[in-house]
Amino acid sequence: MKTILTSELRSRLIELAQEARTRAYAPYSNYQVGAALVTPSGKFFTGCNVENAAYPTGLCAERVAIFKAVSEGEREFTALAVVTSNGGTPCGSCRQVMAEFGLATVVLIADTQGKLRQEATVSELLPGAFGPSDLGK
Ligand code: THU
Repeated sequence: MKTILTSELRSRLIELAQEARTRAYAPYSNYQVGAALVTPSGKFFTGCNVENAAYPTGLCAERVAIFKAVSEGEREFTALAVVTSNGGTPCGSCRQVMAEFGLATVVLIADTQGKLRQEATVSELLPGAFGPSDLGK
């Protein structure tokens, strides 16, 4: 089931992701990404991509936001916004991490102008996801 988001919440998430993007550490790709998520109780967490000279060590903005939230005790996410210069979509690894915490989370894909380019649930972004239920959880 797709959660209906208010336009205020959509705008707030995109705004927070735009802000988080300005803190991206992306000297190698020069591709800055910002993310922001909201929990059912209305808590917000943000993330940006953090690269590393040893390339695979870096982490995507979406996973930074999700791991920050999980490390603070949150495991349910109503919606997550991701902002890039060109409306790029979450990578496969981020989709897999999102799927772990709920297939119904709404993902807002926006650009730096704040324009919403795509809105989809995690299950739409990762059909047939391997998840906790496959391990009996
Ligand atoms: N990146 C993200 O932060 N999120 C994604 O979903 C796609 C890629 C980052 C990783 C790397 O720092 C840069 O964008 C280029 O791949």
